Amino acid sequence: MKIIDNIKELKNEIKNLKGSIGLVPTMGALHNGHKSLIDRAVNENDNVVVSIFVNPIQFGINEDLDKYPRQLNLDCELCQKAGVKIVFAPKVSEMYDDDKNNLTLICPPYSVVDKLCGKSRPGHFDGVCSVVAKLFNLTKANRAYFGQKDAQQLFIIQKMVKDLNFDIEIIPCPIVREADNLALSSRNKYLSENDRKLALTISQSLFNAKKMFQEGIKQKRAIIDACLKLMEQLDVEYIEFVDKNTFEFQDEANENTIILIAARVPETNTRLIDNINL
Ligand code: PAF
Repeated sequence: MKIIDNIKELKNEIKNLKGSIGLVPTMGALHNGHKSLIDRAVNENDNVVVSIFVNPIQFGINEDLDKYPRQLNLDCELCQKAGVKIVFAPKVSEMYDDDKNNLTLICPPYSVVDKLCGKSRPGHFDGVCSVVAKLFNLTKANRAYFGQKDAQQLFIIQKMVKDLNFDIEIIPCPIVREADNLALSSRNKYLSENDRKLALTISQSLFNAKKMFQEGIKQKRAIIDACLKLMEQLDVEYIEFVDKNTFEFQDEANENTIILIAARVPETNTRLIDNINL
């Protein structure tokens, strides 16, 4: 496995690869959720590139860019064991040789960013799409793997690929959960013991919502009220129903509904997201 930190060397290595290329874009602090993407990519491609880059332009000014967990050596070990060919871990100056305000960015439309995570994190998806597009160009990947936990991110990237005719297949991968159903996230590292307990009320709400739907309850208000009751100790940023095909808000649940939650836990103020497909 090669660990590469500069674009010139990456381009050279990519040129010499034979067969298909799978890309797993990450910000590092790899956990079993990432590992499931990497394992799938290794299974489906001749070569796998994992990018590890904490992308500053997708963080807002008051967000956790500085304290975002970084553990390159451990991440590389995981990649090596999983059969990855290249880890691309560039410095910020290698990816962006200009000020953020002077870069060409990909800005998805308001219809998809002015809601949910995009609403509370202005500019976030411009940063995500721009770095992902650069990684697609640099790696010339045939397939790229993204987790369904970031459902809005996945939808927006699929739209970018369609709108801009990128020649790449986006492979959505299921959410990986701990035994007690907490969705895996690099930000779980921030949680205190008590926060971790309270964080479980997010997945409990989602699984309970699915059960209510399966029992015939479709009214958004009834389902949301039940969720909010379970999450009463959290600061809920949003709980919403969207159609999985359009990402438009829904007034009532149906089999195309994704229920999405973003909430903060009280002690560490960690912001967590999760969702469930009905
Ligand atoms: O999901 C993430 O970890 C990031 O948003 C991504 C896709 C690697 C872009 O920085």
